[in-house]
Amino acid sequence: MNPNKALWEKGDFTRISASMRESGEAFVKSLGITRGLKVLDLGCGDGTTALPEARLGADVLGVDIAANLVTAGNIRAKEAGLANCRFQEGDASNLHELKDSSFDLVVSMFGAMFAPKPFDVAREMVRVTRPGGRIVMGNWIPGDPTLVAQILKISAAYSPPPPEGFISPATWGIENNVTERFAGAGIPKERISFVKDTYIFNFPAAPSELVDAFRKFYGPTMNAFEAAENNGRAGDLQKELEVLFNSQNKSPGKDATTIPATFLRVTVAV
Ligand SMILES: C[S@@+](CC[C@H](N)C(=O)[O-])C[C@H]1O[C@@H](n2cnc3c(N)ncnc32)[C@H](O)[C@@H]1O
Repeated sequence: MNPNKALWEKGDFTRISASMRESGEAFVKSLGITRGLKVLDLGCGDGTTALPEARLGADVLGVDIAANLVTAGNIRAKEAGLANCRFQEGDASNLHELKDSSFDLVVSMFGAMFAPKPFDVAREMVRVTRPGGRIVMGNWIPGDPTLVAQILKISAAYSPPPPEGFISPATWGIENNVTERFAGAGIPKERISFVKDTYIFNFPAAPSELVDAFRKFYGPTMNAFEAAENNGRAGDLQKELEVLFNSQNKSPGKDATTIPATFLRVTVAV
């Protein structure tokens, strides 16, 4: 079994993405989507950005490695009556089922960054975008003090060491790495722009319950807890995450969680 696929099918990212819908929609509004635009949403999950893209009239294909999320996305699109939004399985490292130059816009919010072989991912994203089209990625930033970068850092500290040659997904949050990867796909650095942006996690319960959701449903955190349980350190991991979530919570109410998280927005003119 492909470990990248296994990681994301193990959990249920729909339980986390429910807290990201408002930011997903706001982000999509900033993309200048027009009716009929052909959009590939890569590493789309259950469609947090794909559905809003389709609501703006784009013709959207969501591609994700996790079969459970593809099913969830197709159900959400059907329930929303969006015939212009469909989801299928695929791997951002090798999009062989998609033709060259077939999209005006490729969007990947915290998706393609999790695929292995980042140079292949950049090449594939460029290949399927038409000349004159755009690629927009959202990538968590290593070492950033805000939520997701810290969850990934803490989770990695409790997980077994990655296999030899593993390239951390968080390297997609480093401008020089991104530039180098797109240069490998023939894109000069003048056609790449970077800006820091924010997603807000909104959850209708206390921060400790959001920690529980990550523990039960978010692949990287699930793996960290499994390893920590084997070493008798699950309590430490739980505590570390609760301190993080509580300290970042901006909600005035006790039974609600609002946490902003910084990411690197990458725009590539193909
Ligand atoms: C953090 S989630 C983000 C999902 C979605 N873009 C969103 O904003 O809610 C990461 C997603 O990337 C997908 N993914 C991971 N590796 C992938 C790969 N190699 N190819 C395609 N999708 C991948 C996962 O299955 C998961 O849905």
